[in-house]
Amino acid sequence: MKALEIAPLKDRKLAVLLVEKEYNEPFWIAEPPSTANSRMLYSLFKPSIAFTKILTNLIKKVAPDFATEELGMRSQTEFYQDNVLAQMFQKNGVPFFPVDIDGNAKMYLETIINKKRDLRDNVIKALTKLSKKTSKEVATEREYLVAYGQCLQAELYEQEQEANSSIRENWMVMGILDHAREIDDKKEIRSLHICSPEHTEGIRKLLESIDIQVETLRLSKKIVSTHAETPHSDELADLLESMQIQVKPVVRKASGDAPHLLFYLDTDAKASPFDICMAYDAGYNAVIPYENVTPQDGKRIVQDAIFSRGPKAVKHTSFFIGGKNAEKAEEVFEAVKDAMFPPFKTSIIIDPGGAYTTAAAMVAKVEAALPSQNLGDLKDKTCAVLGTGAVGQIAAVLLAKLGCNVMIASLNPKRTNGKEYAENLARFLASRYGVEVEGIFAPTGTEKLEILKKADVIFCAGTRGVRVIEKESFKDLRLVKVLVDINAIPPFGVEGIKLKDDMKEIARGIFGIGALTVGDLKHKLEKGILREARSNGNEVYNYNTALELARTLLRKELLPAKLTLTLSYPPDEQGSK
Ligand SMILES: NC(=O)c1ccc[n+]([C@@H]2O[C@H](COP(=O)([O-])OP(=O)(O)OC[C@H]3O[C@@H](n4cnc5c(N)ncnc54)[C@H](OP(=O)(O)O)[C@@H]3O)[C@@H](O)[C@H]2O)c1
Repeated sequence: MKALEIAPLKDRKLAVLLVEKEYNEPFWIAEPPSTANSRMLYSLFKPSIAFTKILTNLIKKVAPDFATEELGMRSQTEFYQDNVLAQMFQKNGVPFFPVDIDGNAKMYLETIINKKRDLRDNVIKALTKLSKKTSKEVATEREYLVAYGQCLQAELYEQEQEANSSIRENWMVMGILDHAREIDDKKEIRSLHICSPEHTEGIRKLLESIDIQVETLRLSKKIVSTHAETPHSDELADLLESMQIQVKPVVRKASGDAPHLLFYLDTDAKASPFDICMAYDAGYNAVIPYENVTPQDGKRIVQDAIFSRGPKAVKHTSFFIGGKNAEKAEEVFEAVKDAMFPPFKTSIIIDPGGAYTTAAAMVAKVEAALPSQNLGDLKDKTCAVLGTGAVGQIAAVLLAKLGCNVMIASLNPKRTNGKEYAENLARFLASRYGVEVEGIFAPTGTEKLEILKKADVIFCAGTRGVRVIEKESFKDLRLVKVLVDINAIPPFGVEGIKLKDDMKEIARGIFGIGALTVGDLKHKLEKGILREARSNGNEVYNYNTALELARTLLRKELLPAKLTLTLSYPPDEQGSK
């Protein structure tokens, strides 16, 4: 069997003009379309007079070295003898070839699909037999067979779709390249490919992925009858007389396909590889890092970038503000936001040192976990946030906005003016974010225990590799229901919590959430934000949006697990497992 391999052309350039047909060339593997309507429409699967005329003019202008068309269900003889396009290309002296899935490959797919189809048909036969029996006797069997049949039908449909789209498109592209290779006396080759609309995008993307220059042309058709009235009769003469169609070729611009660029503005001296890698993984075509960015730099970079792209492509441009220092990042964010105006507005993400997504993931995780253990709502809880870095601060802000009673504590014994620092922090959070939290300095074990005893939920946002809570204090934590830790470097923030714990009871009535459980959600969240910013192109993504998205992700994660069941026959008491 011929192997499917798409290899770039060596030492030669190929330009392909994809000319979109007015219909999708019929093709099937398992079953032909069977409705009366589709049979009648079959007669419309022919190029129109206008299409052929425009194509003839195009050939004169482009002078292609060869042309191709998908074969579909036609035989080679039909393709050459009953095909008006084949005659037209021949008349104009352009070599014309069918390209499509290889016959053996199609047969192989057919065997697989037919086996499934036979099984589905047996299910239908069994169902027909059952329908002759009294309904009560066989009601359960019928239900199970219907479920089985539906499942097989869905799989059949999926396999057929895949064969028709990606598999065939790969073969068609390979066919185009093979014919280009046969032309060995030219450095620059031009070809036309007559393409079903359903394959234009797929073929274009495949060709572009191997640096082939592609342009797409389709015909726009409009009825421009000069007779104001629609004919009242279906007489042939009336119909033809009323017909005046204007057909013009339209070049499909690839403007929607301007590359997705992310300008990564880091306030630190070295741009974070973490966010850069995440952005590439989320589908950006290029990530451009800037370091030591000030608000003035931010404004300049934004304006230089957006004006170069124009209002359409600017939607494919995003800005990400990072850097460990949240305050500096916020200043750059304000400058970036102010530098934009309609229609040059596009997405801005701010996530200093990953703090906003980490804090949002931590809060959303606890918010979803409490009701799952019947422990009430987070908004009614007293929360202690240990650690006053960017993660701790934003977690405290989000919790206070939810309605929680919040304490934020610095436990750092190295702080000299700790009490003043903690009180100032509470004032700062009130003025900047409009939230009321209590700022506490607790450098000793006794002071720390005082805070822990008052809390229902404890969020450990201490620095990496520093233990914040020892196991022996668990016995004194009468109110505490959930302990979350985000320090993934040993020793972890809480003794006894493992990295992947997810509401694991680590002491009687105390449930632990480990750093990797939060980290995993944070990872998905950052990628989700990057993907959304890349495709939506008109939003600000900050800690508020991060919390919303984290909630959505958790809902999506929980739903399939909650709803999964396995049907098997005979059914158990509930009818499922
Ligand atoms: N999983 C993830 O994806 C992810 C992403 C980002 C961050 N993180 C983790 O989140 C945690 C917080 O990060 P961050 O950027 O907000 O802050 P950070 O700079 O790592 O530090 C947090 C706080 O820990 C306190 N601290 C430092 N040394 C201490 C000591 N010896 N004893 C007690 N406390 C001490 C500091 O003092 P004060 O409390 O007095 O301010 C500091 O504000 C870190 O463990 C970090 O690794 C995880």
